[in-house]
Amino acid sequence: NVLKFIPENERPDITDLVEFGGQQFLNPKVTECKGYRIPPPFSAETVEWQYDNWNPTDKDVLVASFPKTGTTWTTQIVKSVIYKDDEKMMDLTKVIAPNTSYLESGTPKNYDIMLKLPWKRKIWGTHLPAPLINMERLKKNGCKIIYVMRNPKDQVVSWFNMNKKMPFNKTEQMAEHFPAEWNAFFETLVNGKQPVHSKEGEWYPDHILSWYPYRNDDNVLFLMYEEMKKDPAKEIKKIADFLGVKRSDEEIDELVEATSFQSMKKEALKPLSQMSFFRKGKVADWKNQLTVAQSELMDEKFNEKLSGIDIKF
Ligand code: A3P
Repeated sequence: NVLKFIPENERPDITDLVEFGGQQFLNPKVTECKGYRIPPPFSAETVEWQYDNWNPTDKDVLVASFPKTGTTWTTQIVKSVIYKDDEKMMDLTKVIAPNTSYLESGTPKNYDIMLKLPWKRKIWGTHLPAPLINMERLKKNGCKIIYVMRNPKDQVVSWFNMNKKMPFNKTEQMAEHFPAEWNAFFETLVNGKQPVHSKEGEWYPDHILSWYPYRNDDNVLFLMYEEMKKDPAKEIKKIADFLGVKRSDEEIDELVEATSFQSMKKEALKPLSQMSFFRKGKVADWKNQLTVAQSELMDEKFNEKLSGIDIKF
């Protein structure tokens, strides 16, 4: 589907790309890159490849986040802010699968597809911690980066629900990291036993700490899921200004509507879309899942790790 946007004589051969995905899926294994554990379907090889080769420009936008913190939503806002009223480009963004636009799956072929597509501005995604990205190069080139964060308790609950549905987590090797039962899942996560682009013993607070030093860079914008829920117009305007795109108040209101949870969920029901990325879309849903002890443990662990920085949930 993506290929239809590329002139016929320039289309890459994607046969082995599909096979590659298939093989990873059948043999999921955790690999390691600079001490960070990379979960399938990604691999250390693809992460290293993007570090050495990904060379974005000042037109490119990277949405970075820990999983389940509002990546899909933020990405959709970025796409809509840039391409509002440009039907062809909006159509193109719909067929870009995460395995093409995610840096961690940065095989030369994926990259080739992204480069050959007739983008006006390319939009990428990543769940990698900052040390696995060539931040110096991005800064030099002026690539825009949006880092979105979310209350870690809601992240855990959202992550638990998503992992229940991931087929490769049912294999013996992965089930050990991502147990299907809630309490066990919680334990593995907060004890840093899950290989989520993190070092042994690390998890979400460490991801935030890895990105935090870049928060005041001109090419970086930090956002918070809860702020986006509270006042989406304000946050969307912030994104538009950051990307250098002029949008009137009326247009911002339209964008709020187009990127609301309900609108996006409705759109996701259509073929090709990823329904599992839309569950409840609420703030503080964790209260229905975490025990008091689990909530207190998370407060304790987060306060301990983030005590020196000005990010509070
Ligand atoms: P829940 O599981 O709590 O509902 P990610 O895109 O990083 O995987 O994050 C997924 C989370 O964002 C899910 O949270 C999903 O429902 C929520 N989400 C997706 N689109 C949203 C939107 N337009 N508004 C608010 N939340 C949204």
